[in-house]
Amino acid sequence: MPAPQPAARRTVLKGAAALAGAAGAGVTLAACSTAATSGGNTPATPTAPVELGAAAEVPVGGAKLYRERKLIVSCPAEGRYTAFSAQCTHAGCVLDKIVEGEGNCPCHGSRFDVATGKAVKGPATDPLPAVPVKVENGKLIAG
Ligand code: FES
Repeated sequence: MPAPQPAARRTVLKGAAALAGAAGAGVTLAACSTAATSGGNTPATPTAPVELGAAAEVPVGGAKLYRERKLIVSCPAEGRYTAFSAQCTHAGCVLDKIVEGEGNCPCHGSRFDVATGKAVKGPATDPLPAVPVKVENGKLIAG
C-alpha cells in the first residue's frame, strides 16, 4: 500500500499553484485599474454647482480643461459656453489635455470633440455627458 505522503505533497503543490495564479490575477487587475486616474468613485458629473473661475479664461472658439474638477468648458462664440464631463466614457479615466479641439484620454487614446462632446476616436464610442453651465458675475458655474 503506498504511503499517503505523495498525494499530500501533490495537494500542497496544487494549492501553491492556485495561489500563484490568484496573485498573478491580482497584479493584472491592479494594472487595469483606472481608480488612480479617474479620481476614484466620484461621479462623472458634478452633483452640486461648481465654480470654475473667470469665464474669460476659456478662449473664444476654444475650450479649457478643468482636470481637477473633471470638466471641460468650451466657448464656441463670445458669451456662449458649453460644458462636458472630462471623464472618458470608455473606462473612466480623466482626460489629460486638449489638442487641436479634441480632449485626449491618456489611458487608451480616445479623443473627444470638445465643442460637442462626441467621441471622435475610440475605443470610446459614447459622447462625454453634457453638464449645465452658466456665468454669474463673470465666473463660470457648472453643474
Ligand atoms: S479610459 Fe479613456 S480610452 Fe480607455
